[in-house]
Amino acid sequence: MSSLLEPVTIGGKLPLRNRVVMGSMTRNRCVDDYKPGPAQVTHYADRARDGTGLIVNEGTFVDWTGCDWKYSPFMITDDHAAAWRVVTDAVHKEGGKIFFQAWHAGRCQHDQMPVMKKMGGRVLAPSSIKADAGKYRDLPGAPGHTENVVAIENPRDVVETFRRSLQLAKKAGFDGSELLAQGGYLPQQFLNTRANKRTDNYGGSVENRCRFILEVVDVISEIFGGPEYACVKLNPTDFLNDSVVTFKEMKETYTYLIKELVTRKVGIINLSRRGIDHNGGTGDFFGHIPRPTEYPLPLGYDPVLDFGPLVKFPGSPSMLMANHDYTLEEADRLVKEGKLDLITFGRPFIYNPDIISRIRHGIPLSGNTRDNTVHYGPYKTPDENYNDWPSAIIDREKI
Ligand SMILES: Cc1cc2nc3c(=O)[nH]c(=O)nc-3n(C[C@H](O)[C@H](O)[C@H](O)COP(=O)(O)O)c2cc1C
Repeated sequence: MSSLLEPVTIGGKLPLRNRVVMGSMTRNRCVDDYKPGPAQVTHYADRARDGTGLIVNEGTFVDWTGCDWKYSPFMITDDHAAAWRVVTDAVHKEGGKIFFQAWHAGRCQHDQMPVMKKMGGRVLAPSSIKADAGKYRDLPGAPGHTENVVAIENPRDVVETFRRSLQLAKKAGFDGSELLAQGGYLPQQFLNTRANKRTDNYGGSVENRCRFILEVVDVISEIFGGPEYACVKLNPTDFLNDSVVTFKEMKETYTYLIKELVTRKVGIINLSRRGIDHNGGTGDFFGHIPRPTEYPLPLGYDPVLDFGPLVKFPGSPSMLMANHDYTLEEADRLVKEGKLDLITFGRPFIYNPDIISRIRHGIPLSGNTRDNTVHYGPYKTPDENYNDWPSAIIDREKI
């Protein structure tokens, strides 16, 4: 049997049916007031019914955000929580577990997007520096991320914004929360000297730059009943959304941060290897974007193998999860070799509602047999390219 199907318990408290985790994926399908609807209920329940160990919901904004995905969810009102409750109930009914992905875009948004104008939202970031990336197809001239970036006065206020949203997520029935701390979004902006020029105790030294993430993690622990219910998604080699830093800065920052997260007994550290030139992967969705040449990595560098031992050692309270372009075979081997505890699959969960059954029966995973509209749309109905991917095993009773 594949080692991926072994049950596992996070921090001695959170039992999972197996080690396969559905990664958070923005699918732009909230047609009604930034809330999930019947399409999301079906989508997540189908993957839970097949036996997925843990599901992380699509990135969900903790504050009003002028992002480029106008049908993404928010978790700001009781109405949002009530809509997510229907999803979490459906997942739990199938024996699954589901984490809430807390997302704050920080400077990676645009103040001219309709929701920002309507809600009077401000684009907040550690410092007032535009992110050199982004493309807002619905705004005239398809500009990049906004110039109007307001430096956060007191980061504790933004920690409280996370708290309010996480409290709603708890009310909505989520089992824990993954903090999105990569992709160039707010938590990573604090980590990074490109975006963070603060001179208070949230900027400057490595300890100061890591403070914001650690404070949000403490809030997740308080709300969900312990650090075991917290997951932090990190991508040390990231270069999306103007997030690239030198190898030296990256090593210093993530060594300190990961050690602190383990000291806090955070349940899962989810490390992405995006941004390295491993094998180029399938090229599906992410394309083959080359790493900026001024920020080279040592030949063959892999952040999961480099930082992994900080998380995975005898007696460690934390679990190591990895993502980005893993195959079933590579993930299974790394778990068998004791180098990984859990694996996130992202894209494969789009095209295969039945990954667990396929692993169990040795059936290869399907790739993207359609086109590049399947991820974010456009679509005629939210179910299109979302809830219409075939299972390999049609009649489950015959298995
Ligand atoms: C369509 C799409 C949307 C995504 N949205 C998110 C997101 O909202 N939050 C996040 O942390 N990662 C997001 N990701 C990244 C995935 O969670 C995952 O880390 C990545 O796809 C690598 O895993 P894979 O190689 O198995 O696809 C997204 C990926 C895809 C393909």
